[in-house]
Amino acid sequence: MSLVSLFKSNGPSGFGAGSTAEQVTEGLSLAGKTFLVTGCNSGLGLETLRVLALRGAQVLGTARTADKAAEAIKGLNIGNAKGLSCELADPKSVRSCVQAVRASGVRLDGIICNAGIMALPKLQQAFGHELQFFTNHIGHFILVTGLLDELSETGRVVMLSSAAHTRAPREGIQFDNLSGEKGYTAWGAYGQSKLANLLFAKELSKRLSGTHKTANAVHPGVIATNLTRHMNPVVEAIFGAISPLFLKTVAQGAATQVYVATHPSLASVSGKYFADCNEARPRRDGEDSALAAKLWARSEEIVAALP
Ligand SMILES: NC(=O)c1ccc[n+]([C@@H]2O[C@H](COP(=O)([O-])OP(=O)(O)OC[C@H]3O[C@@H](n4cnc5c(N)ncnc54)[C@H](OP(=O)(O)O)[C@@H]3O)[C@@H](O)[C@H]2O)c1
Repeated sequence: MSLVSLFKSNGPSGFGAGSTAEQVTEGLSLAGKTFLVTGCNSGLGLETLRVLALRGAQVLGTARTADKAAEAIKGLNIGNAKGLSCELADPKSVRSCVQAVRASGVRLDGIICNAGIMALPKLQQAFGHELQFFTNHIGHFILVTGLLDELSETGRVVMLSSAAHTRAPREGIQFDNLSGEKGYTAWGAYGQSKLANLLFAKELSKRLSGTHKTANAVHPGVIATNLTRHMNPVVEAIFGAISPLFLKTVAQGAATQVYVATHPSLASVSGKYFADCNEARPRRDGEDSALAAKLWARSEEIVAALP
């Protein structure tokens, strides 16, 4: 537990910044339930997979390759788990993952869109689109829309956003610059991708209205994980050094997504943004339903044009 979380009090949910994924699921049986977690081989995804399995769930963990997913699962020594490959920057890989899940015949009680990349120092692209937008948003867009029919009657979609969505460009999503070629900053592009994760949950929740299925977005907190791999090595070293004092542990970092994916009190809560295991307010345009609808329509166009 980080020092700082000791001084933060819990919110209305009874949980807070210091809560761990184990604590938010204490006493909860997830036996008979199945969850899919992307980015299962590292950081928050690995801990999420471990705790869901600990509570009895069947877990499907995806990683860029089947070997990486299998290795992660082997390392956790959990029984009811299956690894799948899902390279989010490769639509064919994402579609194969969708097919594999469909073919397995499982019903998904939760899809936790956890995988992500952050703050690439130089512009990189996939299929002509800026890589963070493509990986964090478009890859998950293909995955989730492809698996909607596999979602159980009470299935939950949880999108990993970030407080860094506030670093998105002023206009929110730069629809005229999704390639990044008209201007690129590492944090602006990451912020835009995390705002896109938030808006995706918002629009999906609208599309799921009238059902018992939900979609929400979360900020997990700030945790020293492999996510910092693209940061300046000096900044990364400082980040690691202050981690025990000021940052959440991985166990605490995984708590919000596990809470939102499983807690019985959230059965009918949808279209919301959570931080520290409590509802939170995103940047104003994170609640803009017209922007969310526009992003969905544009994402469909992008996906339709992909090989
Ligand atoms: N840590 C934080 O402080 C923080 C704060 C706010 C939000 N978040 C969000 O939390 C989520 C989890 O981050 P983390 O901190 O656990 O980072 P992490 O340890 O770097 O884990 C990220 C995971 O995403 C996977 N991934 C990256 N690119 C991928 C791709 N193209 N296709 C498939 N998988 C890919 C990584 O696989 P490889 O290992 O193979 O690269 C890894 O499994 C991210 O969405 C992040 O934006 C984290």
